[in-house]
Amino acid sequence: MNGPAFTRKVRVQVPATSANLGPGFDCLGLALSLHDVIEAWIEPGGLSIGVSGEGAGTADAGEAHLVVRAMRATFKILDGQPPGLALRCRNQIPHGRGLGSSAAAIVSGVLAARALTEDGEARLPDAAVLALAAEFEGHPDNVAACLLGGLTVAWTGADGPRAVKLSPLPAIVPAVFIAPEPLSTEHARGVLPDVVPHADAAANAGRSALLIAALTSDFGRDLDVRLGTLLAATEDRLHQPYRAAVMPETAGLVGRLRAAGVPAVVSGAGPSVLAFLASQDALDSTLRDMGIGWDISALDVDRQGASIQSVTPGSEGGTVPQGGTSP
Ligand code: HSE
Repeated sequence: MNGPAFTRKVRVQVPATSANLGPGFDCLGLALSLHDVIEAWIEPGGLSIGVSGEGAGTADAGEAHLVVRAMRATFKILDGQPPGLALRCRNQIPHGRGLGSSAAAIVSGVLAARALTEDGEARLPDAAVLALAAEFEGHPDNVAACLLGGLTVAWTGADGPRAVKLSPLPAIVPAVFIAPEPLSTEHARGVLPDVVPHADAAANAGRSALLIAALTSDFGRDLDVRLGTLLAATEDRLHQPYRAAVMPETAGLVGRLRAAGVPAVVSGAGPSVLAFLASQDALDSTLRDMGIGWDISALDVDRQGASIQSVTPGSEGGTVPQGGTSP
């Protein structure tokens, strides 16, 4: 088979994501308005990497750089490596904080390699992108939200990982409390037990269903009712209690926020914290007085998901969102 032809340059933007959202371990994800942007193009030979912003030190990683690894794996599936590759990353997503930086790197790499290959989309359809990214990441929740945007529910069936996208109510404001130090997901997954009590699994199943309802249905127009429902819906017994020992500050902050009536959870595998606020103002009125030393940002939900621009000489090209359909 002939190798693929390559187009000239692509730009891919990918959102941060918060996974689990409390009870939805390894299945729920929310895309957030914090982004990494990569530009990639074909060179006559070699590999050149530039990284600015978060993770700037990863530029020296060469072939081991996560975006490059994802690109190489994708090119391999598409039947051919380019002669040389250049990559520039502008990163806003903090690394190792539970905000989906690795999912963002993987998704951007897979989409960039696919877009650089002229018939890439035909060779690697969207469902295959999700499957490849989830295989790289080890679980589908972050990569699904990163690809599709909005609120996602991911699962793995006989035919591989799948996801659906939902639209959270605009009134709900996600706020992230960014932990000052990173913690590896591998470490945070290593403390989880192989077996959990049936009652805990049942409690989480109910809470996950309630959480989807509370985030997407306008049944509780009264603010207190909505926050009370979200507080109940974000309870978790499957991962946060086990992880508390390796992230005591995170567990303490989640506990303080919840005691103050704020629906707060560990963001992904931690150590950052995600809270659902009723408005941007709540950031001042509820949280400023609590003396929380971590950076706090009220964000928007990213409703578009990953987007790709083909940049050809003399033209900036058009943006193609990847989040419009479920793969
Ligand atoms: N669901 C994953 C976990 C998210 O909690 O380990 C990791 O980002």
